[in-house]
Amino acid sequence: MVQTSALPMAGKRVLLIIGGGIAAFKCHELIRSLRKKGASVRAILTKGGAEFVTPLTIGALTEDKVYQDLFDLTDEAEMGHIELSRQADLVVVAPATADLMAKMAVGLASDLATTTLMATDKPVLIAPAMNVRMWEHPATTRNLATLRGDGVRVVGPNEGDMACGEFGMGRMAEPDEILGAIETILTPRGVLTGTRALVTSGPTHEPLDPVRYIANKSSGKQGHAIAMALAHLGAETTLVSGPTQLSDPTGVNVVHVKTAQEMLAACETALPADIAVFAAAVADWRAEAPANTKIKKIGEASPELKLVPNPDILKTVAQLNAPLRPRLVIGFAAETNDVLAHAKAKRLKKGCDWLVANDVSDGTGIFGGDENEVHLITDKGMEDWPRMGKAEVAIRLAARIAGHIKGAAA
Ligand code: CTP
Repeated sequence: MVQTSALPMAGKRVLLIIGGGIAAFKCHELIRSLRKKGASVRAILTKGGAEFVTPLTIGALTEDKVYQDLFDLTDEAEMGHIELSRQADLVVVAPATADLMAKMAVGLASDLATTTLMATDKPVLIAPAMNVRMWEHPATTRNLATLRGDGVRVVGPNEGDMACGEFGMGRMAEPDEILGAIETILTPRGVLTGTRALVTSGPTHEPLDPVRYIANKSSGKQGHAIAMALAHLGAETTLVSGPTQLSDPTGVNVVHVKTAQEMLAACETALPADIAVFAAAVADWRAEAPANTKIKKIGEASPELKLVPNPDILKTVAQLNAPLRPRLVIGFAAETNDVLAHAKAKRLKKGCDWLVANDVSDGTGIFGGDENEVHLITDKGMEDWPRMGKAEVAIRLAARIAGHIKGAAA
């Protein structure tokens, strides 16, 4: 018999606000998965939500009353909007429609859902879902920025085919991704416990002689942040880092290397791992025969530099066979032109599962900076993430990784 107290989310209480969108049906699976993990779920069904899913089904899945009307006197006496939010550890809005997001952003309290959202002091997670044009509308962009500023967490949306027949961003995150995001908030140190992660970060230095080397502008900020985010979720994390100015992240096993060859050797030693993220900007070439002593000027002639290719670490690991190949291999693509076309081709060429692409051309301030604007390419398509801090990209990526790994394990 399963001890419910041993379940990872035992005792956690989720208040699920179901908005009016076709994606509401995904809440059935979400409720089931949450309850399987030991969480209790109480649901508020908006008027729009009730057009897509029935209170009967939701009530059967939550094994609780479904709350629908702000002015139901019995409800207000027994469990009003204040009490509903008080008795939850997390409020989840799924689907978060453009209308609900707009109401939240301005603080409208016109029905039970929005009143509860105004009354809550608990963390709030939204899973937006809407037509691509509505998602891209400047009003939604503004509202999203306001909500993020208010501390609201966001999972998804994804790109894909939509119920309205269009294709693009706006499809609600899958139940396993929402579950991953919920676990990250409610059991922040546990969701990746029992897994191993490998992350590469920073540049490599390829010596020409004892004082000179080939390098690049990578700061290591993104890779270090990812290692920290994965460790925070409980993964036993090894960070293989090239030379950077950064301090070692706490809770992470850091291996310092200089060259690409050393980085490959350190990665091979760190395997097996469940997750591997290759964020390092590895030099593609090294000097064939670095000089043992400083190369001297001889007259006016420039020295001939013979370069040979470095091993491709990502490709080498992505093409390993099970059980050595990590379950999820993620590459990065730093591009300066035709970012998406190059990135999509790179994912296939390298054989990795996901690829995080970014534009590092001059003027973006991304290489070495604190912000990043990335596109996540998976086998399901491509998502454009808004520009955000590198730490936030790392947290969001780690949550997606957790959702994927845990979803696959369930
Ligand atoms: N990478 C690697 N080993 C290399 C080169 C790259 O592990 N020798 C990894 C990087 O860590 C990154 C991905 O491969 O995750 C893509 O790196 P990038 O420099 O964009 O690609 P390249 O293969 O070097 O292609 P190009 O420079 O031609 O764009």
